[in-house]
Parts: sequence; C-alpha cells; structure tokens
Amino acid sequence: MPDSTTIPVRLGDRTYEVAIGRDLLAQAAARVSDALGYTPTKTLVVADTGARPHVDRVMDSLSQAGIEAHRIDITPAERTKTIATFACVLEAAASAGLERTNPIIAVGGGIVGDVAGFAASAYRRGVPSVVCPTTLLSMVDASVGGKTGVNLTCPTGGLIKNMAGAFHQPSLVLADLLTLTTLDARHLTSGLAECVKHAMLSADHGDPGALEWLRLHADALAQLEPAAMDSLVTRSVQLKARVVEHDERELAAAGSAHGRATLNLGHTFAHAIEPIEHLSPTGKPGDVPLHHGEAVGLGLIAACATAAITGLCDPSYGDSVSSLLTHLGLPIRIAGLPDNAELRARMLSDKKVAQGAIRLVLPTAPGSARLIDDCPAEAIDAGWDRIRA
Ligand code: GLY
Repeated sequence: MPDSTTIPVRLGDRTYEVAIGRDLLAQAAARVSDALGYTPTKTLVVADTGARPHVDRVMDSLSQAGIEAHRIDITPAERTKTIATFACVLEAAASAGLERTNPIIAVGGGIVGDVAGFAASAYRRGVPSVVCPTTLLSMVDASVGGKTGVNLTCPTGGLIKNMAGAFHQPSLVLADLLTLTTLDARHLTSGLAECVKHAMLSADHGDPGALEWLRLHADALAQLEPAAMDSLVTRSVQLKARVVEHDERELAAAGSAHGRATLNLGHTFAHAIEPIEHLSPTGKPGDVPLHHGEAVGLGLIAACATAAITGLCDPSYGDSVSSLLTHLGLPIRIAGLPDNAELRARMLSDKKVAQGAIRLVLPTAPGSARLIDDCPAEAIDAGWDRIRA
C-alpha cells in the first residue's frame, strides 16, 4: 500500500485512524477491511457529485476486492443537507440490504460526510462509517471527530446549521492528498481558513509553533506545494484529534481552553453570515454566496476585534491574523452585511447559544482561545464593524 502518515484518534473502543497520504483511495477496499478487521460483503457509497473521479476510484477498488458497492449521489449544498436527504440515504441503505456489519462510506466534502455519517449512526441503530474527504476543509475538520448531522429549516425559512445529528465516530478516515489537486482555488483557500483557526488554538494543545509555521509557509501553501500541504494537513489533523480526544462530546466547561467548543472560534460570526445569499467575497455578483471557510476567515478577524475591545487579547493579534489570511487569498472585509442588530439576532439562532445568550470563542493570545458566555453587545458589534467593507 502507498505510504501514509497515520494519526490515531484515541477514544477507547471507538479509537480509529486518520490515514494521510497520496493515492490512498485506490487502496480503499484493503484499508477499509484492515480498519474493520473483516472484509465487508457490501457497502453503500455516499458520493459527492462534485467528486466523481475520486468516487470512481473508491468504487473500482471496492469492486476489485469483490465488495458489492451500492452508490447514492448527493449534490453538496447546505440546502440539500436536510432530513429529506438523510432519509434518502437510509432508504438507499435499506434497498441495498445493508446489514449491521456493512459500512456506509462517504466520498466527498463535509456536507456529504455529515449526512452519510448521520445515516450510519441511525441505520439499524448504527453501522460503521468510513470517511474519504476530498476537500481540504473536510480533511482537516469535518471528517475527524464524529460530528454528523443535517440542517433544519426554521419557521422564517432560513436554515439552522447542523441542528439535528449524532456523534458517530468513523472507523477510518482516508485523507488522500491527491484529491486536493482537483479542487478549485476557492475551495482550497476556504480550507486554509480552518487551518488558520486550528493554528490559533495550537498553543493550548501543545503545538505553539503552528501559527508561525503557517506564516513562514503561506506562499508555499498558496502555491499548493506538496510538502507544505502534507505538513499542513498532518499538523491540522493532529490538533483536531487532540481536541476530540480531550472532549469528544463537547462537554468541557465554559472557560476551558481545551474543550471541543473552542473549535468554534470564528464560527458564531461565520454562521450568521454564511446563509446570506447575496454576500460575495470579491464583490462580484457571480461569486455569491460565501463559502464556509471564507465566512470562517472573516469570523476569525471579527473574533479578534471583539476580544481586543474586551481586553482579552492584544489588538495587534487581529492585524497579524488579517495579514496571514490576505496572504492565503482569503477576504478580510465584506460588503453588504446587514446592520449589527440583525447580525446579533442571527447569532442568537446559532445552536451554540447558551440560555439565550450568544456564546463566543475568543482569542486570548496567539495560539490560545477561551469560550466566553457573557460578551457585551458593543464588543460583538466591534467585531462586525471590523469586517464590514
Ligand atoms: N467542527 C467543529 C467540531 O468538530 O467540533
């Protein structure tokens, strides 16, 4: 089998490995069998319509190994990440006659991984799942840690992201770096924003040099240099694995620097603007809407500004994060935002709300952050003002 770096996610009897390397999808069948400890008779592949060549490699590998591989295609969009799509995956598993030992395999980005994982958690009250992430964003974040789910529609017609779901750890994550070579520039830079977020938490998880490493390698990453990309994915997955091992179900108390909730750094801001369909990262109407990572990058800058005004961190930290994000090709301001009161109201519909108050993860120093429950409205507004074009 081709070389790979293996990062364990140590969770007792739910321990699994994230394999990172090149051309791993061609070996999917053997790696799935190794991870499960048996060769499954059949499987359902939940396929991202945006990742067809990668899906084909997985299907070929499974059929060559004599595994009966059924397939359901999903269009990756927040609007399709619904209970209805979840039900379609369950029904596809039932029609294929999947049994308790037969895995559901997701091949694609985070949306497909989340829906497939949720279906795996529910079908026959739980079957194994395997995730083959094909975007940088899903490789370094969504595929690791077992959060699965779908969006719900709220009474006003808007979406509440990931409002229904389950913790269901995969049996294996196969992160094939070759898949990144077919990603378009926007999807790649979006993924880089989550890597910056991880680096902004890294000192709390034993990797104080991650932010500086990103700064030094920003050019190489923007050019997709293979060695830099390999190190980036490995380092980012390592951080995610450590956080999940520490607080798998996101139960750590507010104020903890090690809780899984700290991974939401930038996300409460991001989730408030991501569903606004007219927002464009470039100002060009053809570029609407924002991608998740673009919204996260903006959210990181807003979080720095909010933290600075409350005295939690030095104002210069936000400047250095902005300059890093610019270097990586991400937007640092956005035109067309609603007013601050509406943005705060949107933040209140985020599922991270605690007892009616906005819960924010705010940076305290380079590489460190804390969960804060009682952030004043004026400080949140300072965050929004910082990214308003
Ligand atoms: N993406 C946040 C988490 O996995 O907890």
